[in-house]
Amino acid sequence: MSTNTSVDETKLQEFMGRVLGDMGAAMNAALVLLGDELGLWKAMAGAGPLTANQLAEKTGTFPRYIREWLSAQAASGYVTYDAASETFTLPPEQAMALAQEGSPVFVPGAFEIIRSVMLDQPKIRDAFKSGEGVGWHEHSPQLFKGTERFFRPGYIANLTTSWIPALEDVEEKLKRGARVADIGCGHGASTILMAEAYPESEFFGFDYHAPSIEIARMTAEMAGVQDRCTFEAAPSKSYPGENYDLVAFFDCLHDMGDPVGAATHVRQSLAPDGTWMIVEPFAHDRLENNLNPIGRVFYTASTLICTPASRAQEIGLALGAQAGEARLREVVTKGGFTRFRRATETPFNLVLEARV
Ligand SMILES: C[S@@+](CC[C@H](N)C(=O)[O-])C[C@H]1O[C@@H](n2cnc3c(N)ncnc32)[C@H](O)[C@@H]1O
Repeated sequence: MSTNTSVDETKLQEFMGRVLGDMGAAMNAALVLLGDELGLWKAMAGAGPLTANQLAEKTGTFPRYIREWLSAQAASGYVTYDAASETFTLPPEQAMALAQEGSPVFVPGAFEIIRSVMLDQPKIRDAFKSGEGVGWHEHSPQLFKGTERFFRPGYIANLTTSWIPALEDVEEKLKRGARVADIGCGHGASTILMAEAYPESEFFGFDYHAPSIEIARMTAEMAGVQDRCTFEAAPSKSYPGENYDLVAFFDCLHDMGDPVGAATHVRQSLAPDGTWMIVEPFAHDRLENNLNPIGRVFYTASTLICTPASRAQEIGLALGAQAGEARLREVVTKGGFTRFRRATETPFNLVLEARV
């Protein structure tokens, strides 16, 4: 190997330090899942300092493996270690993120998505060569479950408390009794939450992916909202029904091959004074302004999931998960909407409102 004299040794070391951190994080993803699946995080939450043997006993696992797992978590900063007592503690902040299913920062779902992209990477590699798409439905099932588990905490934290109240007139309509369509609803996390919050309204969840619709139906039954919440497999350009007061798209417009076609169908399915709510991953309009940790997560997911999903459908516009508001405005305007505004935002989401 020839020596590259233009290499700055300090910059090289800095970069290798970054890669080293990424290597540990990537490898630990499998262990975060292991902690989730074996109930290790939940057993540690609120339990105070535990030895490896105590955690193994609590969880019916093998102590030597647990000591290694705990050591990895201590090196990752996910648990703390007290050398004097040889105990490990899951701090309350980490417990919120790793052990509390309903908390707004619960993250194991994201790691299920990470597992799915590793499994599905060969399909994406082939698509890079062929230019073909890889449909949402062609991914490993871990993606569908992981997406629901990762997105639901954000919906619990924001949907009925800040996103819907930020829309013009919508909250009052939902409280009185309105017709709502949730398009690209996946496992129905958003649909069911809305049905729980607004019992006078009727909710119709649609997604082209029939297996997700099956799960949404079962989940609605378990939540006891099946009387006002129905699910049907249908694509965004031809879902049934009209006179909807609210049509909602949660993190799916950019996954569609023909978002303008979808926008046109939304316009036709809305009541005259109806609202289209579009929740999209947070993004600035220019790439250079998205080069941050959140943009990194979204661009990687977009490369592995969203862009191939759109390419797999008719037109294949491939907006990408970091389209930004200006590009989304173009799509919405081409679909015949005249009013468009950013209703609100979170660090992870843009909440956009369109009306005819
Ligand atoms: C990232 S997931 C979001 C799922 C759900 N909205 C949520 O927030 O949990 C994107 C969803 O869009 C759906 N989808 C993609 N293209 C679609 C289309 N053309 N018509 C209907 N659904 C579509 C996928 O099946 C998938 O469930």
